Amino acid sequence: MAHELKALQMLFPTPVAAFEIKDFERINKQLLEEIEVRRKAEEGITRSNRAGWHSTLDFFQRPEPAHRELSQAILQAVAALTRRVAGQKDMLAKLKLECDGWVNVNPAGGYNIPHDHPGAFWSGAYYVKIPEALQKDENPSAGAIEFIDCRSAPTGQGLVKAKHFMGSIPMKPTEGTLLVFPSTQKHWVHPNSSEEERVTIAFNAKVVVNHAKMRAAAEEQLRGGYGQAQLPGGDKKPAVRKVDGRKKAPAKTK
Ligand SMILES: [Fe+2]
Repeated sequence: MAHELKALQMLFPTPVAAFEIKDFERINKQLLEEIEVRRKAEEGITRSNRAGWHSTLDFFQRPEPAHRELSQAILQAVAALTRRVAGQKDMLAKLKLECDGWVNVNPAGGYNIPHDHPGAFWSGAYYVKIPEALQKDENPSAGAIEFIDCRSAPTGQGLVKAKHFMGSIPMKPTEGTLLVFPSTQKHWVHPNSSEEERVTIAFNAKVVVNHAKMRAAAEEQLRGGYGQAQLPGGDKKPAVRKVDGRKKAPAKTK
């Protein structure tokens, strides 16, 4: 062979994670009941949704039991994903996740226009109810969420049918699935071509500094030997350094 492949790296990958929420059938049933009560009491708002009902953005602050249970499950999954992509178990030791979430009810014909979620780190959707007709439809785009590659397409993209050169990728998550992806990843939701409603919970997760933990860590450091040496004008003992394996106090300054 006249050549040898030395490396094939996938640069700028987009992590799209799918979790299954434990006991999702029970949670979904309860969620649908809670959402039904809210729809009767709340007018809803309009964002990327076309038709249907879009709740206010307070899903993670709601008192309803299933809202709270799912909020906790989403926070745990997003934290686990953050640690995994960072490759550090203590990645969130001094950081925290703040989430906004809302309910999307798509009626027949309802859809979401292409959009991303500025200002967040992760975004995602949890699937509460997917009409049976959409689940059974073998068309991979029927009712799908579709991710769009916003980089300009190389000439010949349509000729080279390679997975890594696709301009958009549709996905059809099942009920109980939590999909999480970078907030900058553009996406849209195909029209609901069934007669039943499709219900999802969408969210944004910001990664912010946990000031309480940062302060506690700084105070802990100040209490320790290293911190004492850093205190300006303090009367702490000078740090001891090792010379030739023996402990020796630093030279005094005159
Ligand atoms: Fe979205």
